Amino acid sequence: MAKITVENLTKIFGNHPEKALTLMDQGVSKDEILMKTGQAVGIKDVSFEIEEGETFVVMGLSGSGKSTLIRCLNRLIEPTRGKIFVGDNEVTSMNDNELRLFRRNKQAMVFQQFALFPHRNILENTAYGLEIQNADSAEKNERAQKALELVGLKGWETRYPEELSGGMQQRVGLARALAVDPEILLMDEAFSALDPLIRREMQDELLDLQQKMNKTIVFITHDLDEALKIGDRVALMKDGEVVQIDPPELILTNPADEYVAKFVEDVDLAKVLTAEGVMIHPKEVAFPKDGPRIALRKMKDKGISSLFVVNRNRQLQGYVTAEDAAKAAERGEKELTGIIQTDSPRVSPDTTLNELFEVSASASIPIAVIDEEKKLLGIIIRGAILSALSKEAV
Ligand SMILES: Nc1ncnc2c1ncn2[C@@H]1O[C@H](COP(=O)(O)OP(=O)(O)O)[C@@H](O)[C@H]1O
Ligand SMILES: [Mg+2]
Repeated sequence: MAKITVENLTKIFGNHPEKALTLMDQGVSKDEILMKTGQAVGIKDVSFEIEEGETFVVMGLSGSGKSTLIRCLNRLIEPTRGKIFVGDNEVTSMNDNELRLFRRNKQAMVFQQFALFPHRNILENTAYGLEIQNADSAEKNERAQKALELVGLKGWETRYPEELSGGMQQRVGLARALAVDPEILLMDEAFSALDPLIRREMQDELLDLQQKMNKTIVFITHDLDEALKIGDRVALMKDGEVVQIDPPELILTNPADEYVAKFVEDVDLAKVLTAEGVMIHPKEVAFPKDGPRIALRKMKDKGISSLFVVNRNRQLQGYVTAEDAAKAAERGEKELTGIIQTDSPRVSPDTTLNELFEVSASASIPIAVIDEEKKLLGIIIRGAILSALSKEAV
């Protein structure tokens, strides 16, 4: 079941939403509705589902409705029409008390402005969300401490916000959200005020954290590179409507319409396409217990001059070349163990093409893509990188 379900969500700003709704349902444009009624369409008939553990990025130009959408999710903005569910619970039908509990315990928000209290130290700032949860003070401090450690700010507990750089202040903002251990993290342009280098660092950090935490994250940005890097899926908004929801690669390679295509035109494909996107299944692998003759036959059958060697758990051991296998066969060796080479490049599935390019320049055999347990996921042959790069973006 989806973690967050949004059904036909609409927000009209103004005192006479009914008029605007009627026109909207007739297909009248947002600009025209504003002219005719003075009502602003914030978001228009938006529907989607977000899976538990998913990082869902909402992306679009300024004014496209991103903040309105994310603030509707916890009803900081009251939707005009439509429904929102978190799990089984309908957020849109909660009374004040239920809503307070939901906001306090299930979700946390991180904003662009770090919004730290200047006269509280870093630990106290981080513990803020726990205070309103009425946690006891020992537990409060412990959890705040843990959250600060998570974002790399151990040792800064007794400092004050003005002593921290912008990047560090945003880490505190993130720690404050994480301290309450929310199921849902809502991040509205959280990294947009940071300078580019720090921003990329924070993106990496979030990806890293998310691997450990597995929260459901709604992340808003107007930056396409950021969206493609962070998102499991990206929702593209235009004039209050969602025009495409897809994984990053599909947004790039298969834009739903002209608007999306224009948006992705300038993206540096090499920066966002990853090893996972260009790897292929190895035609054949060898096992250490295979004799050199078996390995040779496998290579001959497939017309290749080297083979990756994996164990029974598919963990990569290295590779053997046809030349070494032939010699080992002559020497009468029964296993591959003596001729397995381990110096070939190995990358993780999220390695970008830019990084791969560097790796492949010095590699004479395919690049192995392995997961954290060293299991062989796929291989990348040099031509694949080039052809992915030369493929037109749109
Ligand atoms: N409080 C408000 N009153 C009137 N119009 C608003 C209000 N908040 C947002 N809007 C309008 O709703 C649209 C979407 O705004 P917003 O969600 O802030 O966009 P984004 O976050 O994508 O920049 C814009 O046209 C904006 O002018
Ligand atoms: Mg906004």
